[in-house]
Order: sequence, then structure tokens, then C-alpha cells
Amino acid sequence: MNQQLADRLRFLRAFVANPRQVGAILPTSRLAVRDMLDMGDVPGASLVVELGAGTGSQTGEILARMGPDARLVALEIDPRLVKILQERFDDPRLQVVCDSAENLREHLGDGGADVLVCALPFTSLEPGLRRRILESLPGALGPDGVALVIQYSPLLQSELRRIFGDVRRRISPVNVPPAFLFACRRRLADG
Ligand SMILES: C[S@@+](CC[C@H](N)C(=O)[O-])C[C@H]1O[C@@H](n2cnc3c(N)ncnc32)[C@H](O)[C@@H]1O
Repeated sequence: MNQQLADRLRFLRAFVANPRQVGAILPTSRLAVRDMLDMGDVPGASLVVELGAGTGSQTGEILARMGPDARLVALEIDPRLVKILQERFDDPRLQVVCDSAENLREHLGDGGADVLVCALPFTSLEPGLRRRILESLPGALGPDGVALVIQYSPLLQSELRRIFGDVRRRISPVNVPPAFLFACRRRLADG
């Protein structure tokens, strides 16, 4: 069985076991991953963070774009998916962490992310958890950091704008379902 088909089956299994936590029946398409990562400067980043790494459809492309001395911290809550990520990627720049995104700060040390890639299914998460994670995101970014968020609807846009101030949106149609991509930056106060 080829890698892509194997990933899809593992992903589907994770979805059936926990649909609200996984939030999609297929991993993000290669084109949508590229469109999303094009919205931030991954090659120039020292620290990249990934939330909800799944079977690694974004992880692989992030590692391919990252510099040799950069670091990627990838959080995934499902231990079976964490095992797949650990078996799939043998790269000293990558640290896979089995924990909830709401505990992200504990895994970052002093640094903030230059690029934060987030594929969490916010619209199906429990509202309190969703709010805690969303409100922690700006504080996990470095001074010029960007959070790249993928969703399957525009529902989150106004909340992202309230939390970050500066949000750019793009739609990537070659994905099941079509993906809404958001690049979010903190708008610094004038003066
Ligand atoms: C829509 S899938 C995206 C997977 C992969 N990044 C992709 O694009 O194909 C969402 C992922 O977020 C993970 N997840 C859900 N809630 C989480 C949480 N609180 N912390 C970390 N990961 C979480 C799920 O287990 C699932 O792997």
C-alpha cells in the first residue's frame, strides 16, 4: 500500500474513533498545505510550531521548507497519531509532543514561534477548550510571528480578527472540503 493511501486509512480510523476531535475525514491535501505555508516565512523561521499534526501531511512539508538549524515542535493529542508521526519522520529538527494544544506554552521554553501552523478543528471542539486555545495563540508567537490557521468554513474569521487584529484570508479549493486559510499577526498598538 502506498504512503498516501495508508495515511488516509489511519486518518479515517482516527476520525471514526473521535470525530469531533479530528474534525475531518481526510488529511489536508498537498496543494492546500502548500497554499497555507506560502502565507508565512517557513524558510526564515528559527522556531516553527504545529498544532494538531495528525498523520503529518503538514509536518513533512514544513520540514522540507525549514532551514537546517530551525526547530519544529509538533503537538498532537491522539497517542496513535503521535506514534505514526514518530515512525514516519526521523529528523533531529522535529520534536513530536503528545499533549493538548492548550498546554503549548509548557513546551516552548522562553522562545516564541516565528510560524505557528494550526489545523485544529475549532468549530467542533468544546467551546471552553476552543476559547482557551485561541486566546493563547498570540502569546505563543515571537514579535514578528504569524499563525497560519486552516479551517473548513469562514466561521472563525471574526474571532481570529478580534484576537489577533491582523488577519489575511485565502481559499484553497483543491481540498476535501475546500479550505479557508488564515494568516494571523498581532496588530501592535500605534505609537
Ligand atoms: C483536521 S485534523 C488535521 C491533521 C493534519 N494536520 C492535517 O492537516 O491533515 C486535526 C488534528 O488535531 C488533533 N487535535 C484535536 N484536538 C487537539 C488538541 N486539543 N491538541 C492537539 N491536537 C489536537 C486531532 O487529533 C487531529 O489529528
